[in-house]
Amino acid sequence: MEIAAAPEAAEADLTAFAVLDPVGGVPALDPRLPGLVESGEVRGEAGATCVLHGERGRIVAAGGGRRDQLDSDSIRDAAAGVARLGLGGTVAWLLDETLPLPQPEQARAVVDGLVLGGYDAGAWKTDRPRRHLTERLVLVGATDETRQLAQRAERVAQWANQARDLANRPPNDLTPERLAQRAAEIAQGSADLSHESFGREQIVEMGMGAFAAVAQGSHNDPRLIVLRYDPPTARGDLVLGLVGKAITFDTGGISIKHQDFMEDMKGDMSGGAAVIEGVGAVADLGIPLRILAVVASAENMTGGGAYRPGDILTAMNGKTIEVINTDAEGRLVLADALCYAREQGATHLVDMATLTGAIVLAMGDLYGGVYANDDGWRDHVVDAANAAGDHLWPLPLHRRYRRYVSSNFADMKNASILKEGSPALAAEFLREFAGDGPWAHIDLAGPAFIRRSRGDYISQQGGTGYGVRTIAELAQRLSEPLS
Ligand code: BES
Ligand code: MN
Ligand code: ZN
Repeated sequence: MEIAAAPEAAEADLTAFAVLDPVGGVPALDPRLPGLVESGEVRGEAGATCVLHGERGRIVAAGGGRRDQLDSDSIRDAAAGVARLGLGGTVAWLLDETLPLPQPEQARAVVDGLVLGGYDAGAWKTDRPRRHLTERLVLVGATDETRQLAQRAERVAQWANQARDLANRPPNDLTPERLAQRAAEIAQGSADLSHESFGREQIVEMGMGAFAAVAQGSHNDPRLIVLRYDPPTARGDLVLGLVGKAITFDTGGISIKHQDFMEDMKGDMSGGAAVIEGVGAVADLGIPLRILAVVASAENMTGGGAYRPGDILTAMNGKTIEVINTDAEGRLVLADALCYAREQGATHLVDMATLTGAIVLAMGDLYGGVYANDDGWRDHVVDAANAAGDHLWPLPLHRRYRRYVSSNFADMKNASILKEGSPALAAEFLREFAGDGPWAHIDLAGPAFIRRSRGDYISQQGGTGYGVRTIAELAQRLSEPLS
């Protein structure tokens, strides 16, 4: 989508503006508008649209929800209403300087709403009615700086949609090997990106006993996927390490899952998808920051070769792990991936994983939860996420949780039959592998892959691209000299 700025409304296929509830004034685009406000046809309800055919193209009043609840998401919801009309062409969007939301924020939100709201998850339907995507956006009233910001946000949102594509791809198609192919394809698109990936034998050879155990029950080969982004412009010594869980299907293994919603476990690679596409976005924007991305991808299957509860594994850092539950596989693959990222020089770590069912119970489908060994680093990650549109909330770690992962037989256990503090237990487990230096763990099981529409601009069941915007925003902030 190409983005332009214009001082005032000009010719467009569609001229749109946000309306809030209660509706205040409407722009003087058409003499019929005030009457439509009067009759209630132009209303502020989030996602509602009122379309008027004018002499200079259509006019769309797009609802963004309650005026007293206005935030960037309100504008995203309004713009998504326009995207869902599926009319394509050029959209002129009237930024509203009377709203208590800065112009650049409005512009970014419009772009998010149009791009993420226009996403269609039904790629495998053979009789799919085609929704036309917006080809060009004219931001009416925008400065050139705002236009540039919006253009960058647009690219990031496209990368987020590509992460949704990965999450929605069925597990018979998106195997670890295919995910690695996607990473290779992204690396080919940028001179500053390089890709490397390792198969089963190499994973075993590198001593990644925890990762290898999870993968051993599957016919499909696992992959440790590594992307290095090394722009010549990068300043300082900071190397952002991004680590992702990419279980392309999680049956639970021998500790098999209940059948209900098991199909959603194709989305258990959403953290890894966010990392891969997020690095793609950073490279696309040319952000001057070094990144090392490590994604551990495998299937968690049952079968004669599968690992068992009771097995004791040795991770790359030499620590031993007693397997209590083979369904707690994410922390096992991440353990080795975190060690690897640290060993390869990451100074600041963020991992992203659909790690626990309990975080979904706690946070629902909107917020991710973040645990960290460093409060400053955690706050930095939280601020970047929330500014970018990914809702994220801090959760506590404490040394007293360490006993949750103590085992009778080994250094640690991967789970406990007590469900107490399950996301904290998982985080405490990971902390043992994150090494020295700042690390934050984002459990995005709730918002990354949703079971039903949330009724907002994301609007579709399945992958949401959660985490991609966070990565781009975090990288941008880290690349800017401290002010
Ligand atoms: N992939 C699941 C977590 C999950 C559950 C993601 C629901 C999305 C929706 C993870 O591998 C898992 O199975 N976790 C277990 C751990 C338990 C056995 C300690 C869980 O949280 O139930
Ligand atoms: Mn599991
Ligand atoms: Zn899992």
